[in-house]
Amino acid sequence: MITILSIESSCDDTSAAVIRDGLLLSNVTASQSVHEEFGGVVPELASRAHQQNIVPVVDTALRRAGVDKRELSAVAFTRGPGLLGSLLVGTSFAKGLALSLNIPLIEVNHLQGHIMAHFVHPADSMIAATQKLQGIEFRHPTFPFLCLLVSGGNSQIVLIEQPMANGQDSTANTPTMRIIGQTIDDAAGEAFDKCAKVLGLPYPGGPHVDRLAKLGDAKRYPLAKPNIPGYDYSFSGLKTSFLYSLRDQMQAEGVDTIDQLAERVPNLREDYCAALQTTVIDILLRKLKKAANDLGIRQVALAGGVSANSGLRDALIDYARRYHWQAFIPPFSFTTDNAAMIAQAAYYKYLDHDFCPIDAVPYAKTTI
Ligand code: KG4
Repeated sequence: MITILSIESSCDDTSAAVIRDGLLLSNVTASQSVHEEFGGVVPELASRAHQQNIVPVVDTALRRAGVDKRELSAVAFTRGPGLLGSLLVGTSFAKGLALSLNIPLIEVNHLQGHIMAHFVHPADSMIAATQKLQGIEFRHPTFPFLCLLVSGGNSQIVLIEQPMANGQDSTANTPTMRIIGQTIDDAAGEAFDKCAKVLGLPYPGGPHVDRLAKLGDAKRYPLAKPNIPGYDYSFSGLKTSFLYSLRDQMQAEGVDTIDQLAERVPNLREDYCAALQTTVIDILLRKLKKAANDLGIRQVALAGGVSANSGLRDALIDYARRYHWQAFIPPFSFTTDNAAMIAQAAYYKYLDHDFCPIDAVPYAKTTI
């Protein structure tokens, strides 16, 4: 029996999960509200909150799974990319626990983890909650497939192929991942969050944009779209275009603040949110469509925090209908930062005997 405890602490969510023989037994996350008043994650506060949360979160994950720590086969942790202070808490905790139990340590790349969310098998005890959160059936993609990985820090198109597709090792379990396109500046989530901040919406702005966009007219304020070759993305021009459009409105109305502008212009925030969301989705899906066409791949998946966006989910399903793709969208609880995805990645690594040394240090930046 292989039982792994996984820990995710790359940003502002402290999460722990338990996986046994490939079945997810628990997934517990404590989010940090301390950042709301600052309009963004404050790294020092995040790492302090992780220190407070990690023991109760791990304890709850083990208890919900009905697993005693002495039954663990390995401890897994997110090594990066992320905030160093936050990563250090999860890394140090994982090392301490693995050392004390004399069991192996497994490091997981956070971005690979997001893609692994597609392979999570929740145990029967968790299925009701998982499906309720998603509202649609949770299916697993087969290889090869393309994954649009969109989070607060990344926007990438990743090609996922069967483990060791080149034939080096036919017994490997970890799928092979290759980035074929990525943002050259900001991430999609960053564009949502920063534009939301300009509109005076709370942090993180993505969910607020999502909610208000449903009430707005996406055509009222046209925004700039980038012209970047290949499968790469850019969102910094869109952010500037959003800011300039609002500034021009303020000048035209002779006001100094967004609140004053919103009093004069009906549906201002809703219309800007609709324009922003529609433009981001269009930018994301056009490149995904180009990649799918060029590579002849018909299985497409979403991953990362921004894949919680209802407009993006609907648009992907619509593209899938139009272009005869199969679309895969994980349940909400596995799209934002969570330890279930880290547990799934760690399970494959355990099968591959891919363990990491006790002196492994976290890293802030890297890609897949
Ligand atoms: O993957 P994630 O939880 O954290 C990392 O960046 O690793 O992603 C967080 C991002 C934030 O930018 C947040 O605003 C965005 O996901 N997000 C959304 C929605 N829910 C979360 N963006 C748009 N619509 C949403 N419903």
